[in-house]
Amino acid sequence: MNKNLFIKEIISNFQDNNLLINEQKSKIFYEFYEYIINENKKYNLTTIVEPIDVIKKHFLDSILPLVEVSNKIKNFNYNNYENIIDFGCGAGFPLMPYLIYLSDQRSKLNFDYIFVDSSKKKIAFITEFISNNKFLNNFDILCVQSRLENLHNKNFKHENTLVLGRAITKFNQLIKYILEFIKLNAISKLSFIYLTGPNFIKPSRALLKNCFGSKYEISFDSYNYEYANKTIKRGVFYLEIKRITPN
Ligand SMILES: C[S@@+](CC[C@H](N)C(=O)[O-])C[C@H]1O[C@@H](n2cnc3c(N)ncnc32)[C@H](O)[C@@H]1O
Repeated sequence: MNKNLFIKEIISNFQDNNLLINEQKSKIFYEFYEYIINENKKYNLTTIVEPIDVIKKHFLDSILPLVEVSNKIKNFNYNNYENIIDFGCGAGFPLMPYLIYLSDQRSKLNFDYIFVDSSKKKIAFITEFISNNKFLNNFDILCVQSRLENLHNKNFKHENTLVLGRAITKFNQLIKYILEFIKLNAISKLSFIYLTGPNFIKPSRALLKNCFGSKYEISFDSYNYEYANKTIKRGVFYLEIKRITPN
């Protein structure tokens, strides 16, 4: 698909799903798409490569839940957080499409945005895209190669952390990684937005209580949704963890 057609597709797909888009942003999405496809020939980044699939299953799939979460989850407000971390980001999903989407909104510049993955190649891929794209200079972005459970960085602002995740590993494993991360970085409040398939089995309160123990208060919520003319079904699981006793 040539650039003009891709841009037409992206504009119409975004508009069909009530997302704001203009020509300038759609060009950045095209550059990201082109970069993914070229790098994917050298090493494995993603199996989703058809242009329409990249638009729907990578770009919309990343942006829609992050835009909608404030309306769907009671009391959720981006302004309550200091940093946003994409856990196991792979080629940058879901955070990179969200940053491109926000690139014309100056109110979104107050966060530290952090990409984390254990893969050196994927972190190098994201780092290079950021350094070649001027619009991303407006954001404070850190790219960290690390296993999630070992992730420690003295530069993190620790109070209110928002973690994003999609397709990382089994959920039971993931919450153990999150607990390790909280302990290692002395985080007092962490929220986790987990993008799921429609058949995701929601964890019971007992399972979560058992994992986090008595030092932490947990609350959670979830919702399912459809997009692309109801052809794609997805879900969001939202988990909030607050430390109630000192470390
Ligand atoms: C299937 S990919 C998904 C990538 C991206 N989140 C997406 O939705 O396209 C899973 C990614 O999680 C990373 N990952 C899995 N376990 C990890 C761990 N313990 N620490 C760091 N990264 C991990 C892998 O390296 C891989 O890039």
